[in-house]
Amino acid sequence: MGCASSLAAGDNAECAKARGLLQNGKKGDFDAAFSSGRLLGRGGFSQVRAIRRRADGERLAVKVVALGSGHSSPPDDRFPSGSDNFRTEKEMQMEEVVCELAAWSAVQGSRHVVNFVSATVERRLVFMVMERCGASILHRAAESPDSPGFWGRESRRVLKEMLLGVQACHHADIVHRDVKPQNFLLGADGSTVKLCDFGLAVRMPHQRQLRGMAGTIPFASPEMLKGSGYGKATDVWSFGIMAYYLSFGGLPFIPDKTTCEGMKKAHRRGLPARCRRRLERGGGAAALVGRQLEPRPASLRWCH
Ligand SMILES: Nc1ncnc2c1ncn2[C@@H]1O[C@H](COP(=O)(O)OP(=O)(O)O)[C@@H](O)[C@H]1O
Ligand SMILES: [Mg+2]
Repeated sequence: MGCASSLAAGDNAECAKARGLLQNGKKGDFDAAFSSGRLLGRGGFSQVRAIRRRADGERLAVKVVALGSGHSSPPDDRFPSGSDNFRTEKEMQMEEVVCELAAWSAVQGSRHVVNFVSATVERRLVFMVMERCGASILHRAAESPDSPGFWGRESRRVLKEMLLGVQACHHADIVHRDVKPQNFLLGADGSTVKLCDFGLAVRMPHQRQLRGMAGTIPFASPEMLKGSGYGKATDVWSFGIMAYYLSFGGLPFIPDKTTCEGMKKAHRRGLPARCRRRLERGGGAAALVGRQLEPRPASLRWCH
């Protein structure tokens, strides 16, 4: 993360520490230590597989990133400009991995964050080993769309534990920037909620705001879309959108086009009456969501 332009020079120590977490392996080392199983999920730039540690039979998961696989760096501010632009795609992807490890290791210790185990790079493959989780929240909630099941019973606890995951980041001065249902998993016990995917997370700079777009458009906060700087509250906005989505099965702000401009317009139109009515009718979790999504006039001023 110190490798990022948005971070203070003093963070270089943190970046060096994260590089230290990434062990250099030779071809075959990973296969010698772990046996690979089924595909658990796929992200934009990675795939996650079930694995078993040969030494003790421990069930774990690995996120595999193929360096130089053709995706360009995310459109955010995590990379220095100028001469550094001449770095190869592989180097930039490696930098992204180091940023992810730095953020992830900074928030270790919470039972609501997926536990990191180890990371190795073998030629063009990075293996990030972590605790194995079960279904994503999205899958479990989708199992009971009419709320008689898991979501109906558990929504308050689940939302609270999601917030505890986000809070663990903020206590460590990390902004996750990709708070959305796909990035919350249920632990191996089938119930504890855990935040994953620190691929876009950054450290909050001292006395400055973050800049740059990162994340998933429908969950992006007005202040991020405005482009004039944002902080930890951006995750709270995304949490509100996510909680609404999980509670009511749709997004509160629906853009005409899924672009930043489209999203800004949707925010400017305000919360549709239909959504307000839903929030007013529901108590408990719905009331909580209502508070998260109340657009603060200051955060929308840029729209006028
Ligand atoms: N520890 C884990 N246990 C089980 N499944 C996981 C684990 N980590 C990630 N996944 C699955 O893989 C998907 C992609 O992982 P993620 O870290 O979000 O990758 P990306 O950065 O590419 O989005 C997740 O949405 C989830 O379904
Ligand atoms: Mg993800």
